[in-house]
Amino acid sequence: MDKHPADTGLDLRHHWMPFTANRSFKEAPRLLVGAKGVFYRSAGGREIIDSLSGLWCVPAGHGRQEIKQAIVRQFDELDFAPPFQMGHPVAFEAASRIASLMPTGLNRVFFTNSGSEAADTALKIALAYHRARGEPQRTLLVGRARGYLGVIFGGMSVGGMPANRKAFAANLLARVDHLPHTYSREHQAYSRGQPDWGAHLADHLETHIIALHDASNIAAVIVEPVGGSAGVLVPPKGYLERLRDICTRHAILLIFDEVITGFGRVGAATAAERFGVTPDAITFAKGVNNGMVPMGGVAVRQEVHDAIVNDSPPGIELFHGYTYSGHPLAAAAACAAIDLYEKEALFVRGRALEGHFQDLAHALKGERLVQDIRSFGLAAGIDLEPRPGAPGARGFEATVRAFELGMWLRTSGDTLVIAPPLVAERAHVERMFETVRQVLKTLP
Ligand SMILES: Cc1ncc(COP(=O)(O)O)c(C=O)c1O
Repeated sequence: MDKHPADTGLDLRHHWMPFTANRSFKEAPRLLVGAKGVFYRSAGGREIIDSLSGLWCVPAGHGRQEIKQAIVRQFDELDFAPPFQMGHPVAFEAASRIASLMPTGLNRVFFTNSGSEAADTALKIALAYHRARGEPQRTLLVGRARGYLGVIFGGMSVGGMPANRKAFAANLLARVDHLPHTYSREHQAYSRGQPDWGAHLADHLETHIIALHDASNIAAVIVEPVGGSAGVLVPPKGYLERLRDICTRHAILLIFDEVITGFGRVGAATAAERFGVTPDAITFAKGVNNGMVPMGGVAVRQEVHDAIVNDSPPGIELFHGYTYSGHPLAAAAACAAIDLYEKEALFVRGRALEGHFQDLAHALKGERLVQDIRSFGLAAGIDLEPRPGAPGARGFEATVRAFELGMWLRTSGDTLVIAPPLVAERAHVERMFETVRQVLKTLP
């Protein structure tokens, strides 16, 4: 095993780690000190295969020199520029490059620094849009149970992750409703790709939410096209199409949170492209610059932008933005990452690996503790039987055991989630699933 950091002189007390069991981590830390390609190196010098592309954010693999050089060049040229009432070329360039990958019409890009800020920005744009169009009463925001839209008050409220909301319940946004989630083990167990059952769940929008609140009060519906953090929840066939149709008929904006699905995860630049369903706005982050410098954003349909920007009185049109919106280093990294995605045809490469990847995932059916397996693109979720009285404990132990066996394995509750970098070879994904098999054999 790796050396305990106490032996290396590293003081672990001051860093309060996010979404981490801090006490347990600090007793037995899992420290990563290097990365190259699809591997990390642990503090103990062991090779750790990266089965989650960092945190879904490193599609082109680690240590890409092309991105490093772009960041260094940008630093030498212009390290920071104020984004309010001033501009710098690379933010405009990055916005154009991102727009070129979005579905036709989603060609106006607002930059943030994270996926959470992207979700909240998209919700605020939706409210501003209806206000600009003369329908300021359209304020209800509709999300979905089990949806993860980040952790700021907007995304947390409209999102549907009970554990993330519980401690803050008294101050969640008030004007919110939720669609039911689309997962049913009874009807969908072990479905590969899109399940056949469940399109009708989109009708809840019309039969319950619109029926209750009236469409004239609803601003937007926001969903992840494929739920990531809740454990790879794949939309049933026809579901997204129905949501699109209902939103269009009632002039409700449809927003896809593509923080995880954007930039190649599902074998295309966006899930919107892969599913052939075009929303009015797409949030992105993570893969936009291969996770090298924090960056997120929202791409919106031009009419949405124009309604807010062109029809406003002179002056600032949207009172929203961040000190680091379109930060030069993040924007330079985005341009370089998109260059790599295009030069190496990485989205196509990911799609070519999908079949083998999903075969390996579904081959785990029948292993002890496995209750369901779902897959779409280069993402797979494997549900384990929770230990009675201790939900999530087995998942956490799987992460610990996998690290001992040389793999970074992310778990969401008792679901194992695998989403390798798009540059992974067949042998890499085989090693990932073999490690999962070993973990399952020895998990208490
Ligand atoms: C779908 C989705 N939206 C938003 C976020 C939040 O992104 P961030 O952690 O960059 O704030 C995530 C993070 O995993 C995500 O998966």
